[in-house]
Amino acid sequence: MDLLVTGSRGQLGRALLAAAGQRRLRVAGRDVDTLDITDAGAVRALVDELRPRVVINCAALTAVDACEEREAEAMALNGEAVGHLAAACDSTGALLVQISTDYVFPGTGARPYREDDPTGPAGVYGRSKLLGERRATEAREHLIVRTAWLFGPGNNFVEAIRRQLNDRVPELRVVADQTGCPTNACDLAGTVLDLVNLGARGVIHAVNQGLTTWHGFAVEIVRRLGLDTTVVPITTTEAGRPAPRPAWSVLDTARLEALLGRPMPPWQDALARYLEGQCAP
Ligand SMILES: NC(=O)c1ccc[n+]([C@@H]2O[C@H](COP(=O)([O-])OP(=O)(O)OC[C@H]3O[C@@H](n4cnc5c(N)ncnc54)[C@H](OP(=O)(O)O)[C@@H]3O)[C@@H](O)[C@H]2O)c1
Repeated sequence: MDLLVTGSRGQLGRALLAAAGQRRLRVAGRDVDTLDITDAGAVRALVDELRPRVVINCAALTAVDACEEREAEAMALNGEAVGHLAAACDSTGALLVQISTDYVFPGTGARPYREDDPTGPAGVYGRSKLLGERRATEAREHLIVRTAWLFGPGNNFVEAIRRQLNDRVPELRVVADQTGCPTNACDLAGTVLDLVNLGARGVIHAVNQGLTTWHGFAVEIVRRLGLDTTVVPITTTEAGRPAPRPAWSVLDTARLEALLGRPMPPWQDALARYLEGQCAP
């Protein structure tokens, strides 16, 4: 087996299965009903059975507000369970690829975060994912890919905006004081497979090129759908979500670009392809 993808029914998991299939890799996908990664014995048994060359862990509790309420679950799944995967990978010599997040940073920066910048998550989700990174480093062969603002097959920001537009809301109200890098899950899936092929190890930031706010992202979605719905900028405080959100989530991709010899495509182009039905739900 070339590849085992955990959390394979999520946005990135589905994109990875498709990308691996296109590259004619032998790939197995498992989600919580067929492999609960918090079950160390089950993880070990499956890795022993399939003997994948590479395990890509996309399983996570990604709902950041839910993480605040379900801290123990978040730490177990996003954090400790990665240690089970690391141990299983070491038992067979597999490479562990852990997908991580901009939320490991404090979100208060003034320039794009580099891989070796100090971490300092503000909430439970970020803390649990940082623990996951630490557990991933327990694998002899590991690659940690930090990404952000994913949209791909499944539920995501683009679909949330589309739902509101379908409901013919008179206006959209979207947060304008958080800045980040919208990233197409299919672009990321291809990039992760490229990084594996190149033998990349350690921590790498991988996001589509460019940056915007959630408001800017929504404006571009509305424009590309040919609509004229007003998008009203609001503040994070006005949005009133339970979990802290980073104001600055921009990831520096110089390391990725040096490895690949190119950046990932601009986020606007990535969005256009998504809206055309490539990599959509
Ligand atoms: N989404 C983003 O904007 C974003 C940004 C930065 C980084 N990331 C990271 O990128 C990775 C992929 O994100 P995503 O958006 O593709 O996530 P997702 O769509 O939420 O998918 C996660 C998958 O993991 C499954 N899962 C839940 N508990 C599990 C368990 N105990 N064992 C195995 N699988 C389990 C989920 O199943 P259920 O749906 O049934 O719970 C779901 O299918 C995650 O590591 C995430 O932290 C995401």
